[in-house]
Amino acid sequence: MSSVIPVRLPENPYEIAIAYGSLNQLGNYLKQLNLGKKVLLVSNQEIFDHYGKIVITSLQEAGFDAYTHAIPEGEVHKTLDSIARLYDTALENRLERSSTMVALGGGVVGDMTGFAAATWLRGINFVQVPTSLLAMVDASIGGKTGVNHPNGKNLIGAFYQPRLVLIDPQVLKTLPVREFRAGMAEVIKYGVIWDEDLFAKLEQEERLDDFAGLSEELLQIILTRSCQAKADVVQEDEKEAGLRAILNYGHTIGHGIESLTGYSAINHGEAVAMGMVAAGRIATKLEMWTQEEEKRQNNLIQKAGLPIYIPANLDSEAAIALLQTDKKVKAGKVRFILPTEIGKVTITDRVSSDIVREAIDEIKAA
Ligand code: GLY
Repeated sequence: MSSVIPVRLPENPYEIAIAYGSLNQLGNYLKQLNLGKKVLLVSNQEIFDHYGKIVITSLQEAGFDAYTHAIPEGEVHKTLDSIARLYDTALENRLERSSTMVALGGGVVGDMTGFAAATWLRGINFVQVPTSLLAMVDASIGGKTGVNHPNGKNLIGAFYQPRLVLIDPQVLKTLPVREFRAGMAEVIKYGVIWDEDLFAKLEQEERLDDFAGLSEELLQIILTRSCQAKADVVQEDEKEAGLRAILNYGHTIGHGIESLTGYSAINHGEAVAMGMVAAGRIATKLEMWTQEEEKRQNNLIQKAGLPIYIPANLDSEAAIALLQTDKKVKAGKVRFILPTEIGKVTITDRVSSDIVREAIDEIKAA
């Protein structure tokens, strides 16, 4: 089972290939792109333990010189210091303009490798091989790369498109179930913001909370439609001048929840799920969509094993204050992405703090 989704960007077009068991074909995919001989494979130790050998063998069999670099695991290492270590490896191995950095991993590995590739020698080839569901459907597509600043997530970065995104759904079997569910939050997001048919398909399924419970066919549909949604949006607005902001549905309040809970108790997908529930409630209160649609969204979130309530002890005022520091604030106004029906959202800066406060308080766990 396989599909190919073109990302039709005028200057940097590329393909997203989704194919079962394709990990050991990476070398051949790269060969077709006519890349230079040197490939630096970047990952973390755990993923190297699972998949390093198969990928390195594939690269070598296709005639590439393969080098490796391990990034310490976790968001705390998403720093300029870690990028400096990556540059050291690039220098040691004399990577050239024609060389390639391959990111094998989740969003952190992808964002950091992309940033290093964007800046080493002013830009070398970059390929994404995402291993988490979240990276497959979101982070690996669209060219957002970067690292955190001590005072904020992803404040340092560059738009830098990969030459290829290669997705082997089979690798999800080693992904912890909680991480799988985090990725499902982004999948559901695409259903709400863009693809009503994807949403309806997900509604028909009995289980969405575990990779083991999904058929190959369903997973292929989920990946293909989600990647297509992301490609559609990025094609229209590569640098987030307008439309691309809709991909932040659920992220505005979600980021606040992540930040207030210290980025560890609640993972990104769980925070996005809570953020979508909050945005859905705001939209209902403003009569932008119906209670019935809000319920459909929340049922799906719940079916994916994700939270539909926010922690009772979350400080609503602090969450509202944090909205002002969101990267997406424009001219001092917080912009919300709110649903108008399943499959459609709008961007508005006309949501009062009172409505946000009421919505947050209404969806707090009892
Ligand atoms: N993850 C949101 C974006 O790529 O724009």
